[in-house]
Amino acid sequence: MKKMKKILILGISGFAGLEIAKKLVLENKVIGTYYHNKPEIKNCELIQMDVTSNKILNSLLENKKPDLIINCVAISNIDECEMNHELCRKINVLPTEVIVEYCKRNPKTKYVFLSSSQVFGGDKTKVGAYSKDDPCHPINYYGKCKLECENIIRKLKNHVIIRPCLIFGLPKKYQHKTIFNYIYDALSVGDIFTAHFDQIKSPVFVQDVALLTKNIIEKEKTGIFHAGGKTRSIYDFTIEVAKFFSFNTNLVIIKKSEEKSYRSKNNSLDCTFTEQECGFIFKPLEESLYNIKRVII
Ligand SMILES: NC(=O)c1ccc[n+]([C@@H]2O[C@H](COP(=O)([O-])OP(=O)(O)OC[C@H]3O[C@@H](n4cnc5c(N)ncnc54)[C@H](OP(=O)(O)O)[C@@H]3O)[C@@H](O)[C@H]2O)c1
Repeated sequence: MKKMKKILILGISGFAGLEIAKKLVLENKVIGTYYHNKPEIKNCELIQMDVTSNKILNSLLENKKPDLIINCVAISNIDECEMNHELCRKINVLPTEVIVEYCKRNPKTKYVFLSSSQVFGGDKTKVGAYSKDDPCHPINYYGKCKLECENIIRKLKNHVIIRPCLIFGLPKKYQHKTIFNYIYDALSVGDIFTAHFDQIKSPVFVQDVALLTKNIIEKEKTGIFHAGGKTRSIYDFTIEVAKFFSFNTNLVIIKKSEEKSYRSKNNSLDCTFTEQECGFIFKPLEESLYNIKRVII
């Protein structure tokens, strides 16, 4: 029989955090922290807290003594991080420093960190299809902070780093919208949607991020895992969504994306290692859209 684990999820109210919690809550004791938005989830201890207070975070860890810490807290908006480095660092890096120190004192505790494919993008010799051992060259502050966290986490023996690329799905009202919402909200009411053909991503369904996290935990894996669906341009992704929901594809305007020094055009992922190591298959887009359709219609 599997041993029930005590799992602390920081950022349980976030888009990925809530989905991960839902997958873990039945077989584990889950404690989750939120800040502004108290999520609706059963069988879970919810704690309201600001993780940027080192003292509060440290006493939470010392009081709860979790077997596993999953950190989903972040400012995940790249523009926002670029505009406010100080706040980005405070939320995206400092909690990891506290958690890593705790894990050094408690080496049995596993730290699962949600990083990002934004640790790539600035390499002149390779563009896209990054595999887990490729050198990291972030070009934005968000990616730099993720890499800084990864570098301190990798000193721990008992760690997991998950690098998702553009997570999509159906967020709650209080959560941020995803690429799926922007496309669906425009095309479903007959508005045009401008889609970039030169933005190459490996969009991953939020449920796959959650299922992969569960798989990694259950199989007691450690190390770095890429999390991405099939690589495609945002334009191709949009057309697939439009066709699936029988929207008028003429409403999709194909366009080159604006040049921004801190935006990489291609941070797509090679997830072969994840699939082989975990025996995990990322859902084809059509299957993810079926799951979404079942909820909205
Ligand atoms: N979304 C993507 O496409 C994507 C892609 C790659 C990697 N990632 C990474 O995956 C992880 C999850 O992303 P996400 O999109 O699910 O995030 P999200 O929806 O933006 O959620 C962020 C979480 O952080 C919490 N939070 C923010 N500031 C806080 C503070 N000062 N104290 C305590 N909690 C605070 C929020 O709590 P409240 O809502 O309660 O305030 C929320 O639970 C992040 O590490 C992100 O960088 C995301």
